[in-house]
Amino acid sequence: MKKYLYIFNYPPEDHDLCALEFKYLFHEEYQGQYYLTNQDICQDDSVFIKAKIDIFAMSENFDELLKEVKALNYEYPDFKVIYVKNKMNHVEYRDSLKKCKDLSWMIEGTVKLNQPLHTIALTYLNNMWICGYYHHGIPTWKKHDDKPWTFSNSLDIRLARTLVNIASGGNKDLTIIDPCCGMGTVVLEGLALGLNIEGYDISREISWHARKNLEYYGYDGQLIQRKDIHDHTKVYDVAIMDIPYNLYTPITYEEQCSMIQASRKICKKMVMVTFEDMTKEIEQAGYKIIDCCLRKKTEYVKFGRYIYVCN
Ligand SMILES: C[S@@+](CC[C@H](N)C(=O)[O-])C[C@H]1O[C@@H](n2cnc3c(N)ncnc32)[C@H](O)[C@@H]1O
Repeated sequence: MKKYLYIFNYPPEDHDLCALEFKYLFHEEYQGQYYLTNQDICQDDSVFIKAKIDIFAMSENFDELLKEVKALNYEYPDFKVIYVKNKMNHVEYRDSLKKCKDLSWMIEGTVKLNQPLHTIALTYLNNMWICGYYHHGIPTWKKHDDKPWTFSNSLDIRLARTLVNIASGGNKDLTIIDPCCGMGTVVLEGLALGLNIEGYDISREISWHARKNLEYYGYDGQLIQRKDIHDHTKVYDVAIMDIPYNLYTPITYEEQCSMIQASRKICKKMVMVTFEDMTKEIEQAGYKIIDCCLRKKTEYVKFGRYIYVCN
């Protein structure tokens, strides 16, 4: 069975968020920055995956690894072998260069050091030599950073992409709703991942701007409609709700509670973002909180956004 090595990278303040997303994408508890598995997930889907290696061979003995790779008869035009450093085992620079060269002789084709078409990776992790095809994560979510319409309420796209992954768990068949979609930040990330997602907002102006944002990137603008969260009749598999708070949108505490209660009627699972601890209000609406994490802006501040996963 094919194996993959995923390499995660994030600032310290994002550790808990990365662990939460990992749990939903890989259906396991987060184990650390290097993850060996037979689960195949696109490295570009998550903002935390720096790279993925499709493993050709693994061995405790480097000469054995060379033999295994040779026997596989790989051939590539314009390839390069790189050593991928990791925090678990250190290989001295010159030694790593020599080993990359030795490995390159086990592969047929042509070597190209600048802008190769194919990159083959070698790393020494947990006392095991690992070699495979290297995929560097491409931050596809960045393209939505220049959407024409935005406002101070908008989520940052990294968080929006992560919420979508937590909500979908990579399942493209789910129906997803963002009932308070603002400028459509979450909807855009969902569409970029090929998900079945719709957005609604009570405000005529905001929902219109969100529609224009979708159209700007070539998506169907009609996936965003003006609607009060209390007026939905359809049921979705999952909702992603970034609840309005009384900072930019005038809203009372009672209205917030009533919106959480309204969301309970339209979805089986909810991923909710709040500016303060709303555990009590979520539970009072009849939800069971499965997971919760506080995403701080930097490591050094106390406050941030709460992310709840409930059903
Ligand atoms: C925090 S903002 C969402 C921002 C959004 N996630 C983004 O990235 O642009 C909350 C939104 O909820 C909308 N809203 C307030 N009350 C609502 C209601 N009863 N039904 C639907 N949307 C509502 C507001 O117009 C506002 O755009």
